[in-house]
Amino acid sequence: MKQLWWKEAVFYEIYVRSFMDSTGDGIGDLKGIISKLDYLKDLGIDVIWISPMYRSPNCDNGYDISDYRDILPEFGTLDDFYDLLKQVHVRDMKLIIDLVINHTSDLHPWFIESRSCRNNSKRNFYIWKQGIKNKEPNNWKGIFGGSVWEYDRNTKEYYFHLFSKNQPDLNWENGKMREEIYDMINWWLERGVDGFRIDAISHIKKDVLDKKMPYVKGERYVDAFERYTNVQGIFYYLKELKEKALNKYDIVTVGEANGVTVEQAPLWVNEKDGIFNMIFQFELLDLFESQSYHKISILDIKRILSKWQKVLENKGWNALFIENHDVPRIVSILGDNEYLRESATCIAAMYFMMKGTPFIYQGQEIGMTNIKLEDIEEYNDIKSKEFYCTKIKEGVPKEKVMKILGLSSRDNARSPMQWNDKKNAGFTTGIPWFSVNENYKKINVENQLKDSKSILNFYKKMISIRRENKVFIYGNYKMILKDHMSIFAYTRTFKGEKAIVICNLSVVNALYRYDTIKLNYSNFLLGNYPIDKEKYATEFVLKPYETRIYKLNCLEEDSVWKKNM
Ligand code: NOJ
Repeated sequence: MKQLWWKEAVFYEIYVRSFMDSTGDGIGDLKGIISKLDYLKDLGIDVIWISPMYRSPNCDNGYDISDYRDILPEFGTLDDFYDLLKQVHVRDMKLIIDLVINHTSDLHPWFIESRSCRNNSKRNFYIWKQGIKNKEPNNWKGIFGGSVWEYDRNTKEYYFHLFSKNQPDLNWENGKMREEIYDMINWWLERGVDGFRIDAISHIKKDVLDKKMPYVKGERYVDAFERYTNVQGIFYYLKELKEKALNKYDIVTVGEANGVTVEQAPLWVNEKDGIFNMIFQFELLDLFESQSYHKISILDIKRILSKWQKVLENKGWNALFIENHDVPRIVSILGDNEYLRESATCIAAMYFMMKGTPFIYQGQEIGMTNIKLEDIEEYNDIKSKEFYCTKIKEGVPKEKVMKILGLSSRDNARSPMQWNDKKNAGFTTGIPWFSVNENYKKINVENQLKDSKSILNFYKKMISIRRENKVFIYGNYKMILKDHMSIFAYTRTFKGEKAIVICNLSVVNALYRYDTIKLNYSNFLLGNYPIDKEKYATEFVLKPYETRIYKLNCLEEDSVWKKNM
């Protein structure tokens, strides 16, 4: 497999709205990002991915674009964007932007035209259908709940929307529409962006729209995920997208690939003729989502992550991530408040040292936690609000709905970045657009920069260890202690080097024992507890959420190496 810049890089996701406000209007912006570039450089970041910064009415915080070639005024101007790009490049980093091309905003000029009359030239840029007996064309339920259809009184037809009704889906069967999209992508590439995170891309092809879902008792609309996710024939469009746009420059691409299984992943990202460099898989996210209903098993995490490692080995490349703007904070899912530092660092080592390109979501590097919101009015996220309304209508008690939202809402990840212990966590001098987590006096960047044992400084060390040791980038992955209920441990092997990463993902001590590898203090690279300077050991007790990373001077082959121990 090739050694490439984006494989060696560490990525950082910025949710622009909540990162840093430079104007005092309470909303994060591009100039705010510029003011924090040195922080990111110092952390060791190579590539920054920013959430959508385009003009948008903000029904889904920018994932509803009304002008692909302009910037949301709250975030700044196109000149600010060019300045950001320049400042990123001056620091020898790269910038990738979010490409939202499954849908637009209903206020995009294409949709305004499309809905103006049935024979408008843009009508078929979107998906329109007649109702059946005054009802929706089918009974499919969308991703945010409710029908995928919205009735348009003016033209007396329904349009298709997978997400909210303010996000009509583009019709990928229309060649003219696709050409406009490629044009727009090339426009950004000419301006020097270094790549894209491609939103909701596994949904661009829909199954035959006449197919009803089998009736489910008590449900008016039925989950129709497989009818609009990774549907057969999607590769025709993906290949064209690659050929006519993505392939023209040396960029990096990461597709958001809901519904793409590990078995299908090589098709999407294989190094020879895959579509993207990496994809964000959903198997782990789905597991995380199930935590609102039951406790997650560590064995499941081990199984899923190891499977993705193995299937893609020597074929494609993994995007490694545990947080983003759509999932609750990882320490609130897998960690423990009492062991915040230990659990945040242990979980970090667990995913970061695997084979693939690691992504860090803003605030993850300081262990930001879920936010406590008491009332639905305090929520901002459209998905959370729709969920609330649906469940209340279904008769689920309010306390129960609020409890689920507390654990699972996307808003958990969207509270403002905690820079210091001053007013509004240093995010804004004005009134923040969304509540700041009350724990900011304790959990913030400024405090952690000063503390050599902080989560932030652990991340810094981990990043530099990865940078300095190719075994953590290109080394082959092997899980060890497969059946251990709380220890997630694995080795990485590359050109005569072997590394071992050990993580006790539990609040209680755990006995580590692995006879095949003798660990020695001199091989110890990083951990989150002080360790004994014992000479050689094959077993020891790991404390709650303890992690240890070792690198051994071994010979090329395992067997030879073992003989020499
Ligand atoms: C995935 C994005 O990450 C999410 O925030 C958004 O709501 C949907 N796609 C729709 O664009």
